[in-house]
Amino acid sequence: MRSMIHRNNLNISVRLATREDAKRLNEIEEACIPKKLRYGPSILASLLSMTSNYITLAVELAEGKKAKIIGFAMGEQDDDKKSLGRIVTIQIDPFYQHRQLGSRLLAELETRLQNSYNINTIELQVHYQNEEAINFYQKHAYKIKKQLRNYYVRGEHAFLMEKKLKKLNFSLKRSFQP
Ligand SMILES: CC(C)(COP(=O)(O)OP(=O)(O)OC[C@H]1O[C@@H](n2cnc3c(N)ncnc32)[C@H](O)[C@@H]1OP(=O)(O)O)[C@@H](O)C(=O)NCCC(=O)NCCS
Repeated sequence: MRSMIHRNNLNISVRLATREDAKRLNEIEEACIPKKLRYGPSILASLLSMTSNYITLAVELAEGKKAKIIGFAMGEQDDDKKSLGRIVTIQIDPFYQHRQLGSRLLAELETRLQNSYNINTIELQVHYQNEEAINFYQKHAYKIKKQLRNYYVRGEHAFLMEKKLKKLNFSLKRSFQP
């Protein structure tokens, strides 16, 4: 399912990403994330191949007859605790940041995770110095639960953030069916 949105006169749509999108997602990651914290092309490609409890959404900008991915978000259901979801990453091409695209993508990913896997809580890990992202998540009702020391590599800590989801109503469930 593709949903159309118009943001600041940008012709934007959101769709499920596939393995074919790996190269472009890697370009966005290189523009967004410091080298030592990146997934890199091979991990991104393997994450895109996971379909059973994993969702990757891409936000696309229409340019004439072509469309270009300008951001993406990945989420999953926890392997053990089935009521728990996780935002794995969300990244918007720096040129298109601050236009509410991240907010739109996060809301759609949360709804799809909830709808597909019936989760009631979403957690995420964010670098403890990534103030922009921490602000972004706090704006969307995520709360810092604790610090995870040396989470990425030695000296690179993370905050664990969490959000309790509101129950979906029936009409919203239907409109977001993948
Ligand atoms: C975090 C990110 C996804 C936000 O996407 P975005 O499209 O720019 O965000 P939005 O325009 O939807 O912003 C929504 C709110 O988040 C907060 N926010 C976003 N960017 C911010 C910044 N640079 N500084 C402070 N607050 C910020 C603001 O409260 C903003 O609300 P406002 O527009 O009313 O001020 C984007 O900045 C990004 O890709 N960052 C690099 C990758 C990254 O660090 N991802 C998160 C960890 S995986």
